[in-house]
Amino acid sequence: MQELHLKSRPRRLRKNEVIRKLVQETVLSPGNFIAPIFIHSGREPEIKINSMPGIYQFSLDRALKYIEELQENKIKSVIIFGIPDFKDKEATSAWDENGIIQKANKKIKANFPDLLLINDTCLCEYMEHGQCGIVLENDVLNDPTLEILQKTAVSQVASGADIVAPSGMMDGMVRAIREALDKNNLQDTAIMSYAVKYASAFYGPFREAAESAPKSGDRKSYQMNPANKREAIREALLDEKEGADIIMVKPALSYLDVISAVKEKVNLPIAAYNVSGEYSMIKAASQNGWIDEKKAILEMLTSIKRSGADIIISYFSKDICNLIRTSYE
Ligand code: PBG
Repeated sequence: MQELHLKSRPRRLRKNEVIRKLVQETVLSPGNFIAPIFIHSGREPEIKINSMPGIYQFSLDRALKYIEELQENKIKSVIIFGIPDFKDKEATSAWDENGIIQKANKKIKANFPDLLLINDTCLCEYMEHGQCGIVLENDVLNDPTLEILQKTAVSQVASGADIVAPSGMMDGMVRAIREALDKNNLQDTAIMSYAVKYASAFYGPFREAAESAPKSGDRKSYQMNPANKREAIREALLDEKEGADIIMVKPALSYLDVISAVKEKVNLPIAAYNVSGEYSMIKAASQNGWIDEKKAILEMLTSIKRSGADIIISYFSKDICNLIRTSYE
Protein backbone atom coordinates (compact mmCIF):
# COMPACT_ATOMS: atom_id res chain seq x y z
CA MET A 1 0.00 0.00 0.00
CA GLN A 2 1.24 3.42 -0.91
CA GLU A 3 1.48 5.84 2.01
CA LEU A 4 -1.13 8.56 1.89
CA HIS A 5 -0.58 11.98 3.44
CA LEU A 6 -4.15 12.93 4.17
CA LYS A 7 -4.49 16.11 6.20
CA SER A 8 -8.13 15.52 6.94
CA ARG A 9 -9.07 12.27 8.52
CA PRO A 10 -12.60 12.60 9.94
CA ARG A 11 -12.18 9.17 11.54
CA ARG A 12 -9.86 10.76 14.19
CA LEU A 13 -12.99 12.07 15.85
CA ARG A 14 -14.79 8.73 15.74
CA LYS A 15 -12.15 6.67 17.55
CA ASN A 16 -14.11 5.90 20.68
CA GLU A 17 -17.36 6.63 22.47
CA VAL A 18 -15.95 9.49 24.55
CA ILE A 19 -14.68 11.45 21.59
CA ARG A 20 -17.81 10.68 19.61
CA LYS A 21 -19.93 12.15 22.39
CA LEU A 22 -17.58 15.13 22.64
CA VAL A 23 -18.28 16.16 19.08
CA GLN A 24 -21.93 15.12 18.96
CA GLU A 25 -23.98 17.94 17.42
CA THR A 26 -27.50 16.96 18.40
CA VAL A 27 -28.53 15.93 21.89
CA LEU A 28 -32.04 14.95 22.97
CA SER A 29 -33.45 16.13 26.25
CA PRO A 30 -36.70 15.00 27.94
CA GLY A 31 -37.50 18.68 28.54
CA ASN A 32 -38.19 19.14 24.83
CA PHE A 33 -40.74 16.33 24.60
CA ILE A 34 -44.52 16.39 24.76
CA ALA A 35 -46.43 13.15 25.41
CA PRO A 36 -49.86 12.67 23.80
CA ILE A 37 -52.55 11.09 26.00
CA PHE A 38 -55.92 9.72 24.89
CA ILE A 39 -58.65 10.06 27.52
CA HIS A 40 -62.05 8.45 27.11
CA SER A 41 -65.15 9.32 29.07
CA GLY A 42 -65.88 5.84 30.45
CA ARG A 43 -64.59 3.89 33.44
CA GLU A 44 -62.50 1.17 31.79
CA PRO A 45 -58.95 2.03 32.94
CA GLU A 46 -57.20 1.01 29.71
CA ILE A 47 -58.65 0.33 26.27
CA LYS A 48 -56.10 -1.14 23.90
CA ILE A 49 -55.42 0.53 20.58
CA ASN A 50 -54.69 -2.32 18.20
CA SER A 51 -52.64 -0.32 15.75
CA MET A 52 -50.51 1.28 18.49
CA PRO A 53 -49.07 -1.40 20.78
CA GLY A 54 -48.29 0.12 24.20
CA ILE A 55 -50.67 3.08 23.76
CA TYR A 56 -54.15 3.11 25.33
CA GLN A 57 -57.29 5.13 25.68
CA PHE A 58 -57.19 5.83 29.41
CA SER A 59 -59.96 6.63 31.85
CA LEU A 60 -59.36 9.95 33.57
CA ASP A 61 -58.14 8.24 36.75
CA ARG A 62 -55.74 6.02 34.86
CA ALA A 63 -54.52 9.06 32.91
CA LEU A 64 -53.52 10.66 36.21
CA LYS A 65 -51.40 7.63 37.03
CA TYR A 66 -49.83 7.75 33.57
CA ILE A 67 -48.90 11.40 34.14
CA GLU A 68 -47.11 10.32 37.30
CA GLU A 69 -45.21 7.72 35.29
CA LEU A 70 -44.31 10.36 32.73
CA GLN A 71 -43.03 12.69 35.42
CA GLU A 72 -40.88 9.92 36.88
CA ASN A 73 -39.38 9.80 33.41
CA LYS A 74 -38.79 13.58 33.33
CA ILE A 75 -41.64 14.33 30.94
CA LYS A 76 -43.52 17.39 32.15
CA SER A 77 -45.58 18.37 29.11
CA VAL A 78 -48.61 16.54 27.72
CA ILE A 79 -51.15 17.07 24.97
CA ILE A 80 -54.50 15.46 25.66
CA PHE A 81 -57.08 14.13 23.20
CA GLY A 82 -60.63 13.40 24.30
CA ILE A 83 -62.96 10.61 23.24
CA PRO A 84 -66.40 12.04 24.10
CA ASP A 85 -69.47 10.00 24.88
CA PHE A 86 -71.46 11.60 22.10
CA LYS A 87 -70.86 13.30 18.78
CA ASP A 88 -73.05 15.63 16.74
CA LYS A 89 -72.85 18.05 13.81
CA GLU A 90 -71.73 21.06 15.87
CA ALA A 91 -69.07 19.41 18.04
CA THR A 92 -71.03 20.45 21.13
CA SER A 93 -69.00 18.23 23.44
CA ALA A 94 -65.78 19.99 22.36
CA TRP A 95 -66.78 23.16 24.23
CA ASP A 96 -69.20 21.82 26.83
CA GLU A 97 -67.98 22.76 30.29
CA ASN A 98 -68.60 19.17 31.35
CA GLY A 99 -66.94 17.73 28.26
CA ILE A 100 -64.27 15.10 28.66
CA ILE A 101 -61.39 17.53 28.02
CA GLN A 102 -62.77 20.17 30.36
CA LYS A 103 -63.23 17.58 33.11
CA ALA A 104 -59.76 16.24 32.47
CA ASN A 105 -58.22 19.73 32.55
CA LYS A 106 -59.71 20.46 35.95
CA LYS A 107 -58.67 17.18 37.47
CA ILE A 108 -55.20 17.13 35.96
CA LYS A 109 -54.45 20.72 37.02
CA ALA A 110 -55.72 20.04 40.54
CA ASN A 111 -53.36 17.08 40.84
CA PHE A 112 -50.40 18.40 38.86
CA PRO A 113 -50.29 22.18 39.02
CA ASP A 114 -46.79 22.29 37.49
CA LEU A 115 -47.48 20.06 34.52
CA LEU A 116 -47.61 21.86 31.16
CA LEU A 117 -51.06 20.95 29.92
CA ILE A 118 -51.73 21.34 26.20
CA ASN A 119 -55.11 20.82 24.53
CA ASP A 120 -55.59 19.86 20.89
CA THR A 121 -58.13 22.35 19.62
CA CYS A 122 -59.88 20.44 16.87
CA LEU A 123 -63.39 19.22 16.26
CA CYS A 124 -63.04 15.92 14.41
CA GLU A 125 -63.32 13.74 17.53
CA TYR A 126 -66.58 15.51 18.44
CA MET A 127 -68.23 15.51 15.01
CA GLU A 128 -70.59 12.75 13.82
CA HIS A 129 -68.98 12.87 10.37
CA GLY A 130 -65.39 13.04 11.64
CA GLN A 131 -64.44 16.15 9.66
CA CYS A 132 -62.56 18.98 11.39
CA GLY A 133 -65.30 21.59 10.87
CA ILE A 134 -68.93 22.36 10.10
CA VAL A 135 -70.02 20.41 7.03
CA LEU A 136 -72.54 21.60 4.46
CA GLU A 137 -73.15 19.54 1.33
CA ASN A 138 -69.76 17.80 1.52
CA ASP A 139 -67.96 21.08 2.06
CA VAL A 140 -66.08 21.85 5.28
CA LEU A 141 -67.02 25.48 5.96
CA ASN A 142 -64.14 27.66 7.08
CA ASP A 143 -65.54 30.72 8.84
CA PRO A 144 -68.45 29.07 10.71
CA THR A 145 -65.91 26.56 12.03
CA LEU A 146 -63.78 29.40 13.44
CA GLU A 147 -66.57 30.40 15.79
CA ILE A 148 -66.71 26.92 17.27
CA LEU A 149 -62.93 26.82 17.58
CA GLN A 150 -63.07 30.11 19.51
CA LYS A 151 -65.61 28.73 21.97
CA THR A 152 -63.63 25.52 22.30
CA ALA A 153 -60.31 27.26 22.95
CA VAL A 154 -61.81 29.59 25.57
CA SER A 155 -63.47 26.70 27.40
CA GLN A 156 -60.24 24.69 27.28
CA VAL A 157 -58.24 27.49 28.86
CA ALA A 158 -60.98 28.34 31.35
CA SER A 159 -60.88 24.75 32.58
CA GLY A 160 -57.10 24.64 32.96
CA ALA A 161 -55.22 24.28 29.65
CA ASP A 162 -51.89 26.14 29.59
CA ILE A 163 -51.54 26.07 25.81
CA VAL A 164 -54.08 25.51 23.02
CA ALA A 165 -53.04 23.76 19.84
CA PRO A 166 -55.42 24.29 16.92
CA SER A 167 -54.98 21.42 14.46
CA GLY A 168 -57.88 21.76 12.03
CA MET A 169 -56.05 23.71 9.29
CA MET A 170 -58.84 26.26 8.94
CA ASP A 171 -57.70 29.58 7.45
CA GLY A 172 -57.50 32.28 10.13
CA MET A 173 -57.80 29.84 13.05
CA VAL A 174 -54.88 31.34 14.96
CA ARG A 175 -56.16 34.88 14.59
CA ALA A 176 -59.68 33.87 15.58
CA ILE A 177 -58.47 32.00 18.67
CA ARG A 178 -56.04 34.78 19.66
CA GLU A 179 -58.86 37.32 19.49
CA ALA A 180 -61.22 35.15 21.51
CA LEU A 181 -58.62 34.47 24.21
CA ASP A 182 -57.66 38.13 24.48
CA LYS A 183 -61.28 39.18 24.72
CA ASN A 184 -61.61 36.83 27.69
CA ASN A 185 -58.53 38.22 29.42
CA LEU A 186 -56.47 35.19 28.50
CA GLN A 187 -53.73 37.10 26.71
CA ASP A 188 -51.00 35.12 28.53
CA THR A 189 -52.08 31.78 27.08
CA ALA A 190 -49.86 30.60 24.24
CA ILE A 191 -51.02 29.10 20.94
CA MET A 192 -49.09 26.22 19.44
CA SER A 193 -50.40 26.10 15.88
CA TYR A 194 -50.42 23.00 13.74
CA ALA A 195 -49.49 25.48 11.01
CA VAL A 196 -48.06 23.00 8.53
CA LYS A 197 -50.17 19.88 8.63
CA TYR A 198 -50.19 17.55 5.67
CA ALA A 199 -52.99 15.23 4.50
CA SER A 200 -51.02 12.17 5.53
CA ALA A 201 -51.49 8.41 5.51
CA PHE A 202 -49.39 8.34 8.68
CA TYR A 203 -52.34 9.48 10.83
CA GLY A 204 -54.10 6.15 10.31
CA PRO A 205 -53.47 4.62 13.76
CA PHE A 206 -54.36 7.91 15.53
CA ARG A 207 -57.77 7.85 13.93
CA GLU A 208 -58.39 4.47 15.52
CA ALA A 209 -57.03 5.78 18.83
CA ALA A 210 -59.12 8.96 18.85
CA GLU A 211 -62.08 7.50 16.95
CA SER A 212 -61.86 10.46 14.61
CA ALA A 213 -61.69 9.05 11.08
CA PRO A 214 -63.87 10.91 8.57
CA LYS A 215 -66.94 8.81 7.76
CA SER A 216 -66.59 9.69 4.11
CA GLY A 217 -64.11 11.55 1.96
CA ASP A 218 -60.76 12.81 3.15
CA ARG A 219 -59.18 15.96 4.58
CA LYS A 220 -57.47 17.19 1.42
CA SER A 221 -59.53 20.37 1.13
CA TYR A 222 -57.90 21.72 4.30
CA GLN A 223 -54.77 19.68 5.11
CA MET A 224 -51.76 20.26 2.86
CA ASN A 225 -50.60 18.36 -0.19
CA PRO A 226 -47.50 16.31 0.79
CA ALA A 227 -45.80 17.45 -2.41
CA ASN A 228 -45.59 21.10 -1.33
CA LYS A 229 -42.81 22.84 0.56
CA ARG A 230 -43.09 26.53 -0.41
CA GLU A 231 -46.70 26.42 0.69
CA ALA A 232 -45.46 25.29 4.11
CA ILE A 233 -43.50 28.53 4.45
CA ARG A 234 -46.59 30.48 3.47
CA GLU A 235 -48.70 28.72 6.11
CA ALA A 236 -46.05 29.15 8.81
CA LEU A 237 -45.56 32.87 8.11
CA LEU A 238 -49.31 33.45 8.12
CA ASP A 239 -49.67 31.85 11.52
CA GLU A 240 -46.71 33.79 12.88
CA LYS A 241 -48.44 37.00 11.75
CA GLU A 242 -51.74 35.88 13.24
CA GLY A 243 -50.13 35.53 16.65
CA ALA A 244 -48.97 31.92 17.00
CA ASP A 245 -46.32 31.34 19.69
CA ILE A 246 -45.07 27.97 18.46
CA ILE A 247 -45.24 26.63 14.90
CA MET A 248 -45.75 22.92 14.32
CA VAL A 249 -44.93 20.74 11.33
CA LYS A 250 -46.73 17.43 11.07
CA PRO A 251 -45.95 14.60 10.37
CA ALA A 252 -42.22 14.68 11.14
CA LEU A 253 -40.35 11.86 9.48
CA SER A 254 -41.33 12.33 5.84
CA TYR A 255 -41.10 16.11 6.25
CA LEU A 256 -37.63 16.74 7.71
CA ASP A 257 -36.84 19.04 4.79
CA VAL A 258 -39.98 21.04 5.59
CA ILE A 259 -38.98 21.34 9.26
CA SER A 260 -35.58 22.72 8.18
CA ALA A 261 -37.10 25.15 5.73
CA VAL A 262 -39.64 26.46 8.23
CA LYS A 263 -36.94 26.82 10.89
CA GLU A 264 -34.95 29.07 8.54
CA LYS A 265 -37.85 31.41 7.88
CA VAL A 266 -39.72 31.65 11.16
CA ASN A 267 -38.42 33.15 14.40
CA LEU A 268 -40.59 31.07 16.69
CA PRO A 269 -39.90 27.72 18.36
CA ILE A 270 -40.62 24.86 15.97
CA ALA A 271 -42.45 21.73 17.07
CA ALA A 272 -42.62 18.50 15.08
CA TYR A 273 -45.26 15.82 15.57
CA ASN A 274 -43.79 12.31 15.42
CA VAL A 275 -47.19 10.90 14.45
CA SER A 276 -48.99 7.65 15.13
CA GLY A 277 -47.96 5.93 11.87
CA GLU A 278 -44.31 6.66 12.62
CA TYR A 279 -44.77 5.04 16.02
CA SER A 280 -46.60 2.02 14.69
CA MET A 281 -44.07 1.30 11.94
CA ILE A 282 -41.26 0.98 14.46
CA LYS A 283 -43.40 -1.07 16.82
CA ALA A 284 -44.50 -3.47 14.08
CA ALA A 285 -41.01 -3.97 12.72
CA SER A 286 -39.51 -4.52 16.15
CA GLN A 287 -42.26 -6.96 17.16
CA ASN A 288 -41.31 -8.97 14.11
CA GLY A 289 -37.66 -8.86 15.09
CA TRP A 290 -36.83 -6.87 11.96
CA ILE A 291 -35.42 -3.80 13.64
CA ASP A 292 -33.67 -2.88 16.91
CA GLU A 293 -36.45 -0.88 18.54
CA LYS A 294 -34.40 1.21 20.94
CA LYS A 295 -31.77 2.20 18.41
CA ALA A 296 -34.39 2.98 15.79
CA ILE A 297 -36.35 5.24 18.17
CA LEU A 298 -33.25 7.14 19.20
CA GLU A 299 -32.10 7.58 15.61
CA MET A 300 -35.52 8.70 14.44
CA LEU A 301 -36.00 11.24 17.23
CA THR A 302 -32.46 12.54 16.82
CA SER A 303 -33.08 13.09 13.11
CA ILE A 304 -36.18 15.13 13.90
CA LYS A 305 -34.26 17.34 16.30
CA ARG A 306 -31.31 17.60 13.90
CA SER A 307 -33.62 18.84 11.15
CA GLY A 308 -34.54 21.83 13.31
CA ALA A 309 -37.35 20.83 15.67
CA ASP A 310 -37.00 22.43 19.10
CA ILE A 311 -39.94 20.48 20.48
CA ILE A 312 -41.02 16.92 19.64
CA ILE A 313 -44.45 15.47 20.27
CA SER A 314 -44.00 11.71 20.41
CA TYR A 315 -45.69 8.54 21.64
CA PHE A 316 -42.18 7.44 22.61
CA SER A 317 -41.80 10.31 25.11
CA LYS A 318 -41.99 8.07 28.16
CA ASP A 319 -39.07 5.96 26.90
CA ILE A 320 -36.79 8.78 25.90
CA CYS A 321 -35.16 9.39 29.27
CA ASN A 322 -34.03 5.78 29.59
CA LEU A 323 -33.00 5.64 25.96
CA ILE A 324 -30.78 8.68 26.33
CA ARG A 325 -29.18 7.21 29.44
CA THR A 326 -28.46 3.85 27.85
CA SER A 327 -27.07 5.50 24.76
CA TYR A 328 -24.24 6.84 26.90
CA GLU A 329 -23.31 3.49 28.40
C1 PBG B 1 -56.88 16.03 14.97
C2 PBG B 1 -55.53 15.44 14.99
C3 PBG B 1 -54.98 14.40 14.22
C4 PBG B 1 -53.71 14.15 14.74
C5 PBG B 1 -53.50 15.06 15.76
N1 PBG B 1 -54.62 15.87 15.89
C6 PBG B 1 -55.57 13.54 13.19
C7 PBG B 1 -55.94 14.02 11.86
O1 PBG B 1 -55.80 15.19 11.49
O2 PBG B 1 -56.47 13.18 11.15
C8 PBG B 1 -52.76 13.09 14.26
C9 PBG B 1 -51.83 12.57 15.26
C10 PBG B 1 -51.17 11.27 14.93
O3 PBG B 1 -51.35 10.66 13.87
O4 PBG B 1 -50.42 10.83 15.80
N2 PBG B 1 -57.24 16.74 13.89
